[in-house]
Formats: sequence, C-alpha cells, structure tokens
Amino acid sequence: MKLFLDSANLAHIREIASWGVLDGVTTNPTLVAKEGRDFKETILEICTIVNGPISAEVVSTDAAGMVKEAHEYAAWHKNVYVKLPMTTEGLKALSQVSKQGIKTNVTLIFQPNQALLAAKAGASIVSPFIGRLDDISQIGMEIIRTIATIYKNYGFKTEILVASVRDPNHVVEAAVAGAHISTLPYDVFKKLPNHPLTDIGLKKFLDDWNAAKKK
Ligand code: E4P
Repeated sequence: MKLFLDSANLAHIREIASWGVLDGVTTNPTLVAKEGRDFKETILEICTIVNGPISAEVVSTDAAGMVKEAHEYAAWHKNVYVKLPMTTEGLKALSQVSKQGIKTNVTLIFQPNQALLAAKAGASIVSPFIGRLDDISQIGMEIIRTIATIYKNYGFKTEILVASVRDPNHVVEAAVAGAHISTLPYDVFKKLPNHPLTDIGLKKFLDDWNAAKKK
C-alpha cells in the first residue's frame, strides 16, 4: 500500500520524505491556507521533494471553472493530480478532463455510489473520508471494504485512497481492506514506526553491549 502525507507543510513533508517511504502528498484548501504561502509555489516545491502524485484541489464549484483550473494545475508539473469534489458539477468536470489525460483525485467521498460514479467517469484516485464518518458514528472503514469489492467486481482501475485518517489502526485496517493508498496527517505518520517494546528492547541490547565491553 502506498503512503501519502496529508499536508502542505514543507518541513513536515521533507522530514517524512527523508524516511524513504513517502509515495505522494495530498493537500486541500484548508491545509494550504494554514501555511499562508502561494498555492502554486507550494505545490511546485512539494514536487521537488516527493517524486509521486501530488494532489492540488480546485476551488471552483461549476464544471467549467473546475475544468479551467484542472488544465492550469496539470500544466504545473507531471505529478500533479487535480482534486475535484464529488458533486454533479465535479462529475461533469471529471468526465471531461479524464478523457483529456489529466490525472485526478475525487475528494469528499462518503458513500460507495459516489465512488462508483467517480470510477465510471475515469477518476485516477477516489478519496473516501473515513475519519469524518467515524466522527458521526458511522464506521468509515466499511465504505472502503464496499468500494474495494465494487471495483474488483467490475475491474475498475481507479485507486482507493483512504483519507481523513485519524490513527495508526486506520492504516492497518486500510491495508487489510486492500486500499491502494492511505494519506496520513503528520502526527499519525510520526506514530507509525514506534512501539515502546522496541525502545525498551534497544536500550537493553545497548546496555548489555556496553556492560560487556567494560569487563
Ligand atoms: C484528503 O485528501 C483530505 O485532505 C483529508 O484526508 C481530510 O481529512 P480531515 O478529515 O482530517 O480534514
């Protein structure tokens, strides 16, 4: 499973990229606004750090506006995936730009029919938001399993990206469910390599090693 960072913070992206396991980056208008930097410059800088899909989201709400933005963003860099919202206008824009070879990530997916429509319209990636479903007492991971079954039944090539991840268990469950990608906030990504028994075990190994050397 591919691991993406859900962030527009360049320091965080550089830090996680240095681990050698970062496959891509997702941004959204909230994350970009939080950093207070120019959008295009931010996306281009991310493209120099990570050689993989980098999502840049449109802000138009009508299909024509989205198509225009999609062409603009796609011309910035070959790794840019244009993020389109799962609305009827988004679907119209998606149908057009996917035929023109623009790579896309359909965002704000909360139920399987939305993922089915996005795949039929040629989405490269769909982003079901599981944490926001958990927040309203619906088990978000269930839609991942359902979408995976639907895509398998009909041979859709669209990749399932698990978004709105809240904790490391979501990453494990996404991998078990067969999702292609998980996008993680920085604080969740930082937790993935850790286990207290690893730290305790390493300390003991080194203590034993140093004690033996003193003898
Ligand atoms: C996905 O691409 C979105 O940026 C993201 O995962 C949203 O997550 P949130 O619910 O934590 O805002």
